[in-house]
Amino acid sequence: MTDYADVSFELKPEFLKVTQYILREQAGLKSGERVLLIYDSHTPQHVIDAFLGTAAQAGAEVYALKTPMAPHPAVQPGFVWSQLVISAAEEADLIIDMAIGYAEFLVKLAKKGARIIVPGDATGAPHIEDSLIRCLMLEDPRAVRREAKAIGKIMDAGKVMRVTSAAGTDFTLNIDGLDADVGDGFMYDENGELLTSYQITPGGMPGFIVPAGSGDGVLALDGIMLYENVHHIPRDPVFFTMEKGRIREITGDRYVATRLRQWLKSLNDENAYNGPVHINLGLSRMARLTEHLEWERVRGAVVCGFGDNSILAPYYARKKMALSRSIVHWDVQMQIATIDIDGQRICEDGVVGEFV
Ligand SMILES: [Fe+2]
Repeated sequence: MTDYADVSFELKPEFLKVTQYILREQAGLKSGERVLLIYDSHTPQHVIDAFLGTAAQAGAEVYALKTPMAPHPAVQPGFVWSQLVISAAEEADLIIDMAIGYAEFLVKLAKKGARIIVPGDATGAPHIEDSLIRCLMLEDPRAVRREAKAIGKIMDAGKVMRVTSAAGTDFTLNIDGLDADVGDGFMYDENGELLTSYQITPGGMPGFIVPAGSGDGVLALDGIMLYENVHHIPRDPVFFTMEKGRIREITGDRYVATRLRQWLKSLNDENAYNGPVHINLGLSRMARLTEHLEWERVRGAVVCGFGDNSILAPYYARKKMALSRSIVHWDVQMQIATIDIDGQRICEDGVVGEFV
């Protein structure tokens, strides 16, 4: 994996600004609320303590629950959580998720009114501090939000999305009638109105939850591929031939393509081949290709999800659509992409246009 600049062993004072920003500005934490932080042994203790202390200082009633080590992100949809975890989560007004990720019980709790903020990627890995400081403190998340909204508006009105790249991507998706989501990390609008009770932070990835059966062409994947139990960057691009929202053939980089084919076959789950089940454009100038979710925000890169979107759609899609149900949700990335929406260029060779 690419350059981790920093491994988190000690609390950095800057991180307290991060926890303050996430809890107050992005999750709208209020005095008197009950906060539950769910984590596992991936996450450094001082990162947990910084969140807990910041929430307590805001007047919240604060608890933390350490779970047995959570599964890799790709296999989260099929994982069954203990009722003990679910029962504790049911009592919280705000859940800080650093272990769970995609799970039915969180969808149900969000529907019932709980707010869920997901710093990093809900896997809380050792470098999370560096990732969050870079993406939330070294750039202006509200500026990222403005840009994400402007691009989301064009996506919202669009009918056809075309993605191409020098590596060989040539992919067309019908987006007529689909609602775009901006994925900007903020739960509230500028007037303090709750927009969504689920946010992953850092943000900046406008795009779509895609109905099952949509999308044709070729995806040339030269960025991170998250599958099985790994994050890999292939040495040569991996090519997916896509027909009606489904992978028909995987070729390219011998190691990754072979291992991915084997893994998909081993699942005995035909829906694991469905995709893209979401497609998003990264906007963050500070995001790097690390194992944190920031890799999905790398500016000018496109991320496609595969497998399940039945757990994601309730958070992001405003309209009913045909969903894909699978025991896995895995993701791939095209670097340096070009995106056209109804002929309007959003991003050319990885350089995002000016829309604000
Ligand atoms: Fe995904």
